[in-house]
Amino acid sequence: TAFSIDISGLLKYGDNNIIAVKDDSRESLNVPPVGLVIEYMTYGGMYRECYLDIKEQVHIDDLFVSSNMTDHVRLFYHMTFTDCGRKDLSARYYIRERGGDYRLLGEKAPAVTEYEFEIENAKLWDIDTPYLYDVKVELMGDGKVLDRAETTMGFRTAEFKEDGFYLNGRKVKIRGLNRHQSYPYVGYAMPASMQKLDADILKKELSLNAVRTSHYPQSKYFYDRCDELGLLVFTEIPGWQHIGDDDWKAQAVKNVEDMIIQNRNHPSIILWGVRINESVDSDEFYKKTNEVAHFLDPTRQTGGVRAIKKSHLFEDVYTYNDFVHNGEAPGCMPKKKVTSAPDKPYMVTEYNGHMFPTKTFDCEEHRQEHALRHARVLNSVAGYDDIAGSFGWCMFDYNTHKDFGSGDRICYHGVMDMFRNPKMAAAVYASQGDSNPFIEVSSTMDIGEHPATERGYTYIFTNADSVKMYKNGRFISEFGEKNRICENLRHGPMVIDDYVGDSLETVEKFPHRQAELIKGILNDVARFGMSRPTKKVMKNAAILVALYHMKPEQVVDLYTKYIGDWGTESVEYRFEAIKNGKTVKTVTKTAAKGGELSVNVDHIDLYEQTTYDVAEVRIKAVDANGNILPFCFAPLKLTAEGDVELIGPSLISLQGGMAGAYVKSKGRSGSGKLVIETGAFGQDKKVTVDFEVKAMD
Ligand code: GAL
Repeated sequence: TAFSIDISGLLKYGDNNIIAVKDDSRESLNVPPVGLVIEYMTYGGMYRECYLDIKEQVHIDDLFVSSNMTDHVRLFYHMTFTDCGRKDLSARYYIRERGGDYRLLGEKAPAVTEYEFEIENAKLWDIDTPYLYDVKVELMGDGKVLDRAETTMGFRTAEFKEDGFYLNGRKVKIRGLNRHQSYPYVGYAMPASMQKLDADILKKELSLNAVRTSHYPQSKYFYDRCDELGLLVFTEIPGWQHIGDDDWKAQAVKNVEDMIIQNRNHPSIILWGVRINESVDSDEFYKKTNEVAHFLDPTRQTGGVRAIKKSHLFEDVYTYNDFVHNGEAPGCMPKKKVTSAPDKPYMVTEYNGHMFPTKTFDCEEHRQEHALRHARVLNSVAGYDDIAGSFGWCMFDYNTHKDFGSGDRICYHGVMDMFRNPKMAAAVYASQGDSNPFIEVSSTMDIGEHPATERGYTYIFTNADSVKMYKNGRFISEFGEKNRICENLRHGPMVIDDYVGDSLETVEKFPHRQAELIKGILNDVARFGMSRPTKKVMKNAAILVALYHMKPEQVVDLYTKYIGDWGTESVEYRFEAIKNGKTVKTVTKTAAKGGELSVNVDHIDLYEQTTYDVAEVRIKAVDANGNILPFCFAPLKLTAEGDVELIGPSLISLQGGMAGAYVKSKGRSGSGKLVIETGAFGQDKKVTVDFEVKAMD
């Protein structure tokens, strides 16, 4: 949270003054979140902007605009003025729609600090239509503007009820991920553009409607972008399991105060987290945090994340980290098994994470299981009408202390890597949205990647109506609703259950009945393996031997040809995603051929305002069909030239076929470039990204 210090009493007026800021970020200080162990880094340093504010003696300390909507809309303004005894003051109130002109709402004497204005036909802030308004207050004295406060707001109602979450009276199932605000190399020190990009990724790439800012209030720019995008936010005070002494607790209460006063105008924030994440019950402490939260913001409910069932509830919503899913157990627990107050709202605030750490470079089956675990929990949550929603652990991998992670001080808990490159699990989330056609196949389609060369289940993550699979140009099968698992999801993963189609009849010329029997065997063995023949395999085999006098070797040959894909011709699988009868996207898989770098930059016009600007460069090694080469670890040489510089090392390696780089401006306008070189693909390949920089003088 931000803080300000009044230095007017310390200045030497009419003289030169030096303001020195010293920052102490030792973890031994008795302040939240520290005290015991913490599973993420609590980076220190000056990682947000610092300002020198020069004010009139009389000025606006705070502007709280709350919106509350039923059948009409009112604004409540709350201002405090530093008391100066002046009687000639007035306050002018303005409002405008984003992009429009301010209109004056009224002018009042500022002695009364709360006003209501009716705004007719206000456009509501909602997930898909996040209409924003700006409110401005001018403090007038002697015909002059003495001070000005401006804030963004939105009109909406947000309410957790016993049976779920309601936005503007409509029930919305919350689907979110937890987000730390950390980045490779620099900890929390990333400027506005990078903070905002994370919100964009959550909403647009992962099709989520919510985020939890685990486990602390985050950059103002992140909330700003959530407002603009219609991304719901559950934000909370700093902490991780540990509750300290009275001084520590007093600071935590102050954190509640700061978090709320600084952020209560954001329409995207729908819930305040006022417990230390996963701490035990501490009645006096939590009575206090709730009291402060309700006092400072009567319009929002409180939650407080716990890992214990049936705990004491002073919050409005029972928020719980449910890690019950271990691959086999149900995706989540029923509300009544967890909460101590069945008549109050309930929400799942974490799942997965440490239950199944997954690296971008793990084997395919591991990455697929990671994806399926996310799908299964989402599915279970979707199946309970009385669970408001859930937040998965977590958006991306992060650096950690020595006690956690994979021994390299990294928690591989993300659905993305640290550079925000997607793992397979990201496809589960991305495929739930409907705005862009999405299809991803869980496998490279090479049986050699699987133990005992058993193909196992292969899934298609897609928002299409159906998917047609072709093998070397021959149509094999169309997968649709009947193939989907996770029945409560809008777009559950589809299982590929046929690799053969009508090939045995049309190519091998078997009669229909015999072809079907062989096909049954081939498709079952493909999924369940040779060593565990299913009942169908045994039965079909018996009929094929008895009636058609087939020898087992004949079926084995067909297996190697149609499932093993052995032969002179290399096999190409094509998947066509069909929506409303049209092919909207195609994925083609072959054994890797070709190779190049695919580079994606979030923005190339760097704009320096209050800090340097940073662009994110996501780098992938892809084959000739644009598929990631998941086992490509080639080194990359990064060189920044001109008016940009590189954050981090200039020699890196792809990991799981992916890497990232950050490029920052250097305080001057001009142009620059990032050159990315690799010798990985037979000949030296080079990609150049050009940047333009505009800096304030
Ligand atoms: C939770 C905790 C998170 C993170 C997660 C890993 O218990 O709240 O901060 O550690 O586990 O799965």
